Amino acid sequence: MSQAPLSIPRHVAIIMDGNGRWAEARGLPRKAGHRAGAETVREVVDAALEIGVDFITLYAFSSENWKRPQKEIDALMKLLERFLKTKGKEFMKKNIRLRSIGQTERLPESCRARLASLEKETSENKALTVILALSYGSREEIAEASLRLAQKISTGEISPDHLTTELFAQQLDTAPFPDPDLLIRTSGEFRLSNFLLWQLSYAEFFISEKNWPDFNKSDFHEAVVDYSRRNRRFGGL
Ligand code: FPP
Repeated sequence: MSQAPLSIPRHVAIIMDGNGRWAEARGLPRKAGHRAGAETVREVVDAALEIGVDFITLYAFSSENWKRPQKEIDALMKLLERFLKTKGKEFMKKNIRLRSIGQTERLPESCRARLASLEKETSENKALTVILALSYGSREEIAEASLRLAQKISTGEISPDHLTTELFAQQLDTAPFPDPDLLIRTSGEFRLSNFLLWQLSYAEFFISEKNWPDFNKSDFHEAVVDYSRRNRRFGGL
């Protein structure tokens, strides 16, 4: 019997959880878990490219992560900087565009400079858009969008009568991207953790029991196959 063709999610969002537990289970420092997690990022980006996903958003650093010990923050920033430093050639070769969301002005200058340069260098690439959520918090994003709208209303640029969900979405960091179709979270946790609260309204959820460093290409494939079996009704029948 022939199988129905897979319905590929256009946009996959991922909460990459469990780096710390992965390391602790091996008697390693937490930063070893983040390092292994960065390897998984490489593998999953390749998988998304091969499958034909158009956008992938990775929750790499949340606004709450600033509360972690300085040593862990420094290790994460160093990893991010190295990732950005080494990705240029590969992203150009693979036709991958890099973008970011979040309060990136809070990142160290070294990361900001690398991020800006890689975003610029890859801006015309078309095969896949990788969106890094950095110093990102959805409530903060929504509050900032509300402030921008309030300012536009107070200057008369927008009339309150014209305020629609579409207009609101245009003020969010994610305005240039479609909403995610599929959310993957690793390490068996069923939480959104302040991630894309507005944008995930109609997303399908896939929870993997694996910690992020153990998640691999075939797990990503499994999530996409599982997604393609879902019956999405968007509130209709
Ligand atoms: C959550 O695991 C993960 C993070 C806070 C950071 C995610 C970062 C990476 C995957 C590596 C760097 C990414 C890039 C793009 C270079 P956790 O530490 O909260 O795990 P735990 O819940 O087991 O403690």
